Amino acid sequence: MNIGILGLGTVGGGVVNVLAKNQAEIMRRTGVQIQVTHAAVRDINQPRICPTKGIEFTQAPFEIVNNDSIDIVLELMGGTTLAKELVKTAIKNGKHVITANKALIATHGNELLALAKDNNTHLLFEAAVAGGIPILKSLEQGLSANQIEMVAGIINGTGNFILTEMRDKGRDFADVLKEAQELGYAEADPTFDVEGIDAAHKLAILAAIAFGCELQFDKVSTQGISQISGEDVAFATELGYSIKHLGIAKKLNGKIQMRVHPTLIPKTRLLANVDGVMNAVLIKGNAVGPTLYYGAGAGAEATASAVIADLVDVIKDTLSHNVLGWQSFEAIPYQNQDDIESIFYLRLLATDKPGVLADITAIFANHNISVEAVVQKQIDAQDNAHIAIITNQVKTSNINAVVAAIQKHDSIQEEVKIIHVETLD
Ligand code: NAP
Ligand code: HSE
Repeated sequence: MNIGILGLGTVGGGVVNVLAKNQAEIMRRTGVQIQVTHAAVRDINQPRICPTKGIEFTQAPFEIVNNDSIDIVLELMGGTTLAKELVKTAIKNGKHVITANKALIATHGNELLALAKDNNTHLLFEAAVAGGIPILKSLEQGLSANQIEMVAGIINGTGNFILTEMRDKGRDFADVLKEAQELGYAEADPTFDVEGIDAAHKLAILAAIAFGCELQFDKVSTQGISQISGEDVAFATELGYSIKHLGIAKKLNGKIQMRVHPTLIPKTRLLANVDGVMNAVLIKGNAVGPTLYYGAGAGAEATASAVIADLVDVIKDTLSHNVLGWQSFEAIPYQNQDDIESIFYLRLLATDKPGVLADITAIFANHNISVEAVVQKQIDAQDNAHIAIITNQVKTSNINAVVAAIQKHDSIQEEVKIIHVETLD
């Protein structure tokens, strides 16, 4: 079985290393000898993290997808323009394609999967979501008896690594991001990691596989972690929560909601204790109840583990030529963002004078919102107090109205911050 790899960087190099390290076991599973015969890279002279003996290098990736001797193409270079054309050409040439590229699948997956189906080839992408965790196979295979109600996870390793290092070691955001890049965790454009775009790509894929609907990346509401401050981390801790960057997809009353945002999670939840580059995904099925999947969310060999699992599946041809694990899509409506209900954490900086807290709680009461917890700290020489408030479950439109009203109060010194709280029940 001849494999052509597009991109021999962190993931591509990891794949070659794991194929070499576990050659005997992989051959016992598939019954065939797998060899990486060709690799496309940008710079042939760059050192590689894997042995390269026996691999023919090219800087012309179309040579690989048009090469008749290649059976399976691994797209491990990233991007959505050239990668899309390469994947399309490979499929049209009758090759199976395995990719780790969540941006490509989230934005062009509907078209590419239809093309693969028409050409009777496989297009698999386990490595695109949650690195080494076999989360797509769990949804498609192990949980296939269930109606999935919720998928909620820490699905970006770089972001979780940054939040953990900032919390535990007080390290600077930029410094930790640099380390994540050196470790090969971050995307080519790291704003994808910190602004939640990478997690949104993954969430769109998870939702499609969980609910059997088309990929709808543009329906994911996305918020990054750059707004999280040391004060928020301290308040969250005092109130009994951890702040995590979560991707959440729910099917409620026949509608889907997909959102990526920083989230306060009760410290007692397992997800609140998933640290560093680790990812974890909570899936709630209507038969099995809650299940949790944990593992390395990024890195060379962890991601290679998922790529090679797809390779083994394709070689064993245990898969049907279907679409996202379903035989047909359902057109499920998406919930309007304003109608999404959540508990919220609000942080205000207010002049510390008599009556301010009473005025603010009156605004909540006027909007029929209960305040579940309040912590106040007087923090600066100007007599300004930081106030953290946890609400009950409210509609997003309602909390936005409350925040707009609070913002107008003359004691408020800066923009009111809002973060979702999820109990994950
Ligand atoms: P990477 O280390 O930057 O490797 C990219 C590889 O693609 C490099 O070998 C590069 O060549 C090659 N390449 C890029 N543009 C090319 C072009 N125009 N023509 C030929 N070769 C080209 O990236 P990576 O971290 O392995 O990520 C690859 C993909 O996996 C991305 O879609 C990423 O989102 C996804 N992914 C990454 C991880 C992770 O932990 N890193 C985990 C899951 C999924 P040179 O080496 O010569 O520059
Ligand atoms: N940049 C991604 C992350 C790689 O940090 O999670 C794995 O998809």
